[in-house]
Amino acid sequence: MSVPASERERAEVLRRSIEYHNDRYYRQDDPEIPDAEYDRLLRELQDLEARYPELRRADSPTQRVGAEPISSFDEVAHRLPMLSLANAFDEQELRDFDRRVREGLGIERVRYSAEPKLDGLAVSLLYEEGILTQAATRGDGHRGEDVTAQVRTIRDVPLRLRGSEGAEGWPSLLEVRGEVFLTYARFEAINEHARRSGGKVFANPRNAAAGSLRQLDPSITAARGLSMFCYGLGAVEGASWSDSHSGSLARIAHWGLPVSPEQRVVEGVEDCIGYHTAIGARRDQLDYAIDGVVFKVDRRADQERLGFVARAPRWAIAYKFPAQEELTTVEAVEFQVGRTGALTPVARLTPVQVGGVTVSNATLHNMDEIERKDVRVGDTVYVRRAGDVIPEVIRVLPERRPSGAEPVQLPSHCPVCQSDVLRAEGEAVARCTGGLFCPAQRKEAIKHFASRRAMDIEGLGDKLVSQLVDMGLVEDPADLYRLSLEQLTQLDRMGEKSAQNLLAALDTSRRTTLARFIYALGIREVGEATARALAEHFGDLDALMGAGAAELLAPAGIKGVGIKTAEALVSYLDAHPEEAPDPSQAAGRSVEALEQWLATRPIRGLKPDAARAIAERFERIEQLRGVSAGVLAATQGSPIEGVGPVVAAHIRAFFSQPHNREVIAKLRDPEIGAIDWEAPSDTAMVEPGRASGTLNGKTIVITGSLSLPRDEIKRRLEAQGAKVTGSVSKNTDLLIAGADPGGKLSRAQDLGIEVVGEDALDDLLAG
Ligand code: IVH
Repeated sequence: MSVPASERERAEVLRRSIEYHNDRYYRQDDPEIPDAEYDRLLRELQDLEARYPELRRADSPTQRVGAEPISSFDEVAHRLPMLSLANAFDEQELRDFDRRVREGLGIERVRYSAEPKLDGLAVSLLYEEGILTQAATRGDGHRGEDVTAQVRTIRDVPLRLRGSEGAEGWPSLLEVRGEVFLTYARFEAINEHARRSGGKVFANPRNAAAGSLRQLDPSITAARGLSMFCYGLGAVEGASWSDSHSGSLARIAHWGLPVSPEQRVVEGVEDCIGYHTAIGARRDQLDYAIDGVVFKVDRRADQERLGFVARAPRWAIAYKFPAQEELTTVEAVEFQVGRTGALTPVARLTPVQVGGVTVSNATLHNMDEIERKDVRVGDTVYVRRAGDVIPEVIRVLPERRPSGAEPVQLPSHCPVCQSDVLRAEGEAVARCTGGLFCPAQRKEAIKHFASRRAMDIEGLGDKLVSQLVDMGLVEDPADLYRLSLEQLTQLDRMGEKSAQNLLAALDTSRRTTLARFIYALGIREVGEATARALAEHFGDLDALMGAGAAELLAPAGIKGVGIKTAEALVSYLDAHPEEAPDPSQAAGRSVEALEQWLATRPIRGLKPDAARAIAERFERIEQLRGVSAGVLAATQGSPIEGVGPVVAAHIRAFFSQPHNREVIAKLRDPEIGAIDWEAPSDTAMVEPGRASGTLNGKTIVITGSLSLPRDEIKRRLEAQGAKVTGSVSKNTDLLIAGADPGGKLSRAQDLGIEVVGEDALDDLLAG
């Protein structure tokens, strides 16, 4: 029968394509197409060759096991070839296999060893006199790569066999074959590390295992934490041998070699199908990847009678599971907001069956990942789901990209609450800045607010916060202070007594310190120490809320910049609002670029050293713009500990969200018996209420600038028995207002609180 030209051409195309993908898979550990796609290509070629035997050639990929070993490792010849397995993709193909076996042996029912088919890479171990002397990869099946040093790092692999040589012990020479693999837990950890350090992210556990084993430096292999299960034997010398495969596995297990705990002996094809179904149902719970089960005729004598075909034994078959990687297209990319405000991009996919489950969403992790993989809407992508892991977009097939596919943009506003999104410099994760208000972050924000080191609301635990939010009683931290006894007693397991206790705890928490309050707001990167430094520095919340980059970053003034130079710089910046350093200059390092740019501007009196100091302090032109000449030239003060450009950006972003400001205003609303903080510092020198004097029990607030340092005024007022607090509430007795008093003065006037100025200060302090 002559072969039609079209079929001849198709076979040639398939051969070239399979060869290419073999190379990507075996040599580069970097496959381009999912396994299922590869299997289809190989299948198609096998079918063609079956129909037209004259198409079959010795160099066809169907005749081969893998690719040549890579050159950087020593070559090792296997004593017995390492073979491959024929596949069955459905029940009928398994039944056909069983029928061939029964016919070949002339028996009714066959006993099989049933084992999971591990998705890793085959390795052959050589034990001489019970000692591990060599380990090799499969390579082309005849010669592999010497990975002895690497395999020795695998904890599952014994370096010396248990027991001794002899009748019941191990043979003098023993070749053991098995699969080296990575657990999902290790795989995730390795990729997580790679993501953070900008290293190579692996497409799947098998590639990660192969990449980890083929490390010239075995210490890298060791750190990866590979595992191994043994599934068979190669050459054996100097001992009588078990007459069954299962018996062999039991023996090697007895000598300390790792064997899958899932291995069983089954009778007949129905039991094979039962085993396949049972393991398939538990596949997602295993911590390692399996892509099917292997059935092997158990009696060695029967195996020998059946023999081999070109690339595989006739006595074994791999019954595959549906693939866990498939191709589909990205229809959209949306952003989800997590409970800590992190925005996670999610790909909406054309639904596709992956491993028996419909997948229509997959995570893209973060913007760095999107940029690295260059995922665009409309792209054809390779998705994977495995175990309990969220489906993931692994890679794009650029050759299938439609024209006009747009890169994904990070939204500028939170999709949940519309607050600004901030992606701090050098960070992969973008976040919503509406922490106090955003519904996605509600529970976390309230839990943090109530926590012991923040507002310390006793009895308000995580479960209770969840309940309050779920029932719609609390939307933001300020709502806590509006809860009533009736509302609380409606809650699960909340008696009247505990409700009263909680109300009392809420009441107690109102009296706090500014530092705790700032910390309680949950501003990104503002921990307790930074909150304390901010409270210390600004003295009250309004000053902090109004602070620009200048006040947050540069309270110290710049060495070598006098007021004249500072004014010249500020007026230059004001006159040239569009100018900026060229980002491609100074190898993209922003500080150097800013320094060069400043040094080359016609600014009178600006010396190179001062340009450098300014660039180091502000780092970017945006941070420098808006800073007053006075601040630049100031000579007092010191930088706020813990506040650099990134923290300053978080603080400014937080306070510039109208919704956050509204929640803060609610918290301070005198009508609800506002939060009221003591002195700026947690370490007031005089405990409030302890001293006695003419101001005994009076609550005083100070605002504006006065002739004496605020700390001193406060100390002296406290010495008279006054309590000095940071904000005006209905409990305030007196406001001392200096120059530029700001919002506290109007609040005090609204509440009808007595206000005195600088001129009354002396009298007050003198008692
Ligand atoms: S037996 C002569 N058993 O699958 C039989 N192989 O597709 C040789 N594999 O190269 C293999 N788990 O890397 C066997 N329980 C198992 C297996 C297994 C995974 C791999 C092995 C082999 C490939 C064949």
